[in-house]
Parts: sequence; C-alpha cells; structure tokens
Amino acid sequence: MDNLANVIRSKVDIVDIIGERISLTAKGKNFFGVCPFHDDSNPSLCVSREKQIYTCFSCHATGNVYTFLMNYEHMEFPEVLKYLGDRVGVLVENAKYTKKNNKFTKLYDAYTLASKFYQNNLNSSYGKEAKKYLASRGITEDVIKEFEIGLSLDKADDLVTLLSKKGYDLKTLNDIGLASSNHDTYRDRIMFSLYDAFGKTVGFSGRIYKDNNQNKYLNTKETEIFKKGELLYHYHIAKDECRLKKSVIVMEGFMDVIRASTIGIRNTVALMGTALTKEQITLLKRLSNNIILCLDGDDAGVHATLNIGEVLGAENIEVKVISLPNPDDPDTFILNNGAEKFNNLLSSALNFSDYKMLKLRENVDFRSDEEKANYINSVLKEMVKITDEIRIEVMLKRLAKEFDIGYNTLQMRLYSFKKSTEEKQNVKTPVKKDVKKKDKYVKAVEQILYFMLNNDWVISQVEKEKLILSEEAMRKTCSEIIYFYKQNGFINVADFYTYVSDKDDILVLLNSILADGYNDKTTKEELNLYFKAVKDYTVKQEIKRLNTLLRKEVDPLEQALIAEKVRKLRIGE
Ligand code: UTP
Ligand code: MN
Repeated sequence: MDNLANVIRSKVDIVDIIGERISLTAKGKNFFGVCPFHDDSNPSLCVSREKQIYTCFSCHATGNVYTFLMNYEHMEFPEVLKYLGDRVGVLVENAKYTKKNNKFTKLYDAYTLASKFYQNNLNSSYGKEAKKYLASRGITEDVIKEFEIGLSLDKADDLVTLLSKKGYDLKTLNDIGLASSNHDTYRDRIMFSLYDAFGKTVGFSGRIYKDNNQNKYLNTKETEIFKKGELLYHYHIAKDECRLKKSVIVMEGFMDVIRASTIGIRNTVALMGTALTKEQITLLKRLSNNIILCLDGDDAGVHATLNIGEVLGAENIEVKVISLPNPDDPDTFILNNGAEKFNNLLSSALNFSDYKMLKLRENVDFRSDEEKANYINSVLKEMVKITDEIRIEVMLKRLAKEFDIGYNTLQMRLYSFKKSTEEKQNVKTPVKKDVKKKDKYVKAVEQILYFMLNNDWVISQVEKEKLILSEEAMRKTCSEIIYFYKQNGFINVADFYTYVSDKDDILVLLNSILADGYNDKTTKEELNLYFKAVKDYTVKQEIKRLNTLLRKEVDPLEQALIAEKVRKLRIGE
C-alpha cells in the first residue's frame, strides 16, 4: 500500500490538474470537457471533484489524478508522484522512486549518451565546418545549446565504440538505429535530437551540410519509443506555451520551429513532413482548439494546407492559415523579413474557409464559362460550413455582383448544397449501439461493489453476507476493497485506483462500474434488495448445474439425492 501516494493525492485537486490541460465546464457537481484519450469533439469526459476521479462516457477511460497524468503526459508513476509531490510540498525520496523498472530505460540512455557525444563533437575541432554552416544559417550558440544540436563524425564507428564500452551490443545498436551493421549509422551530419512528449530524446534527424547528393535528412528508424507519425517535434515545449497563447502553430520542419523560437514564438510544433496522422491530430487537439497552419509557401505546402485544414475542420477545430510567399518556409521568411513581418502575418492569419476560397480562385480561367461555374459551385459548397448568416449574405451579394448571377439563384443552390450535406451527415452518424447490455445480476454486483467503495459500513455488511460471486474479477475486486479498507481504515475510489493500478482485471471491472453511473449512497433496505438479487442468481445457477448433473446421472440413488437438493434450493432452504 502506497501511503505516500494517498497523502499526495489527497492534497491535490484533480479538477485543477485536468483543468490546466483541457478546458472544463462546471455542470452541477461535476466538470465536463473533451476527452483527450479518444478522437472526439463532444464533452464526454466527466471529472468529479467530490470523488477525485474522471470518467469518459464515450471511451470509458477512467481513473484518478495519477492515471490521468500517466496517460496524458506519458509519465511513469514515480514521475507523476514526484511532480505532484513538488506541487504540494511533499518530498518524494528519489532513491526509492527513481529505480524504475522501465524496460525502455536502456534505450533512452543510449540516445542521451549519443546526444551528448554529438554535441561534444560539434564543439571539438572536427566541428569547425559544421559550425560555420550553422552560423551561415543564423543558428547561434544559444540555439545550438537549447536544441541540443550536434555533429556525427566522418569516421566509421566512433559512436559504436563508445556505446559498446557502455555495455551496448551491436545488435541493440542496430535495433535502435544508431548502428548499421558494425559502423555508425550517422556519419558527418548535423544532428538534431527528436523528442517525445516529455522532452526525452528518442531519435535523431541528421542533416547534410556539405555539397553532396545524399538525402537531406536521415531519420532514426522506428523503434518502440520512436514512432515518427505519433509525435510532433517540440510538443514538450509547446504544451505550456500553447496554454498561454491559446493557439498552436503547425509547421513542416523542425528548422522552422527552431527559427520561430529565436523570435520568441514557441507555441509551435513541426510535423516533420507534410503528412498528418490520426495520432498527431489527437496531440494537436490536446495543445489547443485553435490551430494555425503555417506550412511552406511552395505548391506542396499549399496542397498540404488545404488537405490538413479540411481534416482538422471536420473535427470542430478552429483552423487558421498563415500563407507564406512561394518559395519561403517559416525559417527563411523570418530570416529574410524579420520578426515583425512574421508577427504581422500571424495576426492577420486567414480563416481556413477564406483561405480555401482564395486558393480556389487562383487557377480559374474566368473566360471559360465552365470553369467559372465550377468555381462558383465550389465556393458555395465551402460556404455550407459558414454559420454566420450576415456573412453568408455579404458573400452571396458579392458573388452575384461579380458574376452577374441572380442572388436567388445562388441562395437556392447554397440551400440545396446545405441539404445534401446534412443528409450525408445523417447517414454517416452511426447509431450508437449499447455495448452488451448488462443483466440484472451483473448490475446488482456492480452496484454493491460501488456502494462498498463509497460507504465503509457497506463493507462489513458484504462480509457478513458471504456472497458468492460468479466471476473472478468480481471476487477479486470485492476482496481487494475489503483488504484496502482493513489496511487503511478508510475507503474511496480515487485511492483504490492507485492501489489496484497494476491489476488489470480489477481495473476493467472498475471502469465498467464507473462508466455506468451507479448511485453512491444506499440504505440497509436497498442494500438487502441487491443482496437478494445476487443470491437468487447464485441459487438459479446452482439449480441449473444440478439439473445438468441429474440428466447425466445413471444411478437412481444418486439421482434421488440430486433431485432432493434441487427441491430444497427451490423452496429456499
Ligand atoms: P523541409 O525540406 O521543408 O525541411 O522538410 P526544412 O525545415 O526546410 O529544412 P532545411 O531548412 O532545408 O534544413 C520538412 C521536414 O521534413 C522532414 C524533416 O523532418 C524536415 O524537418 N524531411 C525532409 C525528412 O525527414 N527527410 C528529408 O530528406 C527531408
Ligand atoms: Mn527550410
């Protein structure tokens, strides 16, 4: 039993901790927000101040402040304990908690060692040319330090030798992408650390800096801790900045993010390319509901902006666009035009809808009637998403005037587009099926367990009743509640969570109970009704079992004995 964990938990308010990360709205006794653990835009996450737990009614994620932070911040339990301990002024002894049996520790350590090695190289005499290159791009010493930029050497196996001395075998080094066969993977490249959501180095991207025709960037191959599509560069810094700035700026490359940082703009992340994955969307939504796309100004960037804007728009996210002149990227734009010009672009970022309409216009040959009609139709389709009626009227009037088309014609077309979109949406909305309805018995057991967690007097009642529960998880949960109470002299859901955090079957049941919203308080009379329901079920099951036996039994004497047992059970003896 972790008393320290309970003490710390009792000093923090889960509503504060979650509220600092996602926006919560008070409704009655509880607080509601958009659940960060699944793809959603409805406020299905319920946070209870009274119980100090959260429950998502949609994906059924449940837990206390520890599980929330572990899942949300990708922290290990000891880290969360230390983090919360610091906040409430409870000392968490390092010695006891840093000995984590994280199976990835060795992996992280290898990258940390490699990162240090690369950074040293850059500062050594081998790094002269690379430094010159960085300086020519306006990368100062401060930036090199802050972003842990380094250099891999133009030698065969320096890093391999170093890590071998630290106990890493060649196979491991190959597995984690630092070695290829028996030599260093990265040779003579400027090395950028790639970080996970917690700021740990989990891989590298190495850039060429001399004239040669190799790939510009070479990335670490995917490992268990590095999945390029599941992270956003700079996320660990952006997560605090985005809360302050109430927006997140999305860029393509980490050089862009690094450059923006030099002018004090740090609510930024890089996709590391132009593809946006589902996992990255989830991460972005955690950062902010206001997403500003600032991709490269070239055709690929425009194309990606249109695609990504569409995808994010469908998620009820406010999307804006900073449109850079071709062929600038944020890096070169800031370098050539300065902070003020970039800030101007930022403050005049376009709504995605406006941006899209602007882009639609660009390649239309207005001498062709067909292209003109296509263009007008596309604009009207885009306008379906606009809810402000005044804006719609202004836009329709402008279109009518510009193309000399009747206002009513345009309005009717817009209306018919609206209708067909709505119909499509109605078809798409899946009918929510109740996930396997629980029968009366399961509900009775779950309700009893939930009463136990909320009222200690129920625990002794349950002990007295000697209920027979049909499933292992039910029995385990019941006995663990009793055990927890005897050890601690109190019971509550939040601390019980910490206690059973490594017992998966109990957690599954607990989540199922919490997602169903059972009552907290009860009376002896009510409790007895639930006991009866459980016992009735047990008797019914026993009769079933005996009847099956009876059918198989050939000995008439045995048959009679069994039949008598069944009779007694039936009359309740
Ligand atoms: P860019 O080509 O836009 O990079 O690719 P950049 O930020 O402008 O880089 P510099 O200014 O030339 O140094 C954007 C992102 O795509 C990934 C990288 O993560 C880069 O940050 N990329 C690009 C690769 O992984 N491999 C490549 O060969 C090129
Ligand atoms: Mn660039």
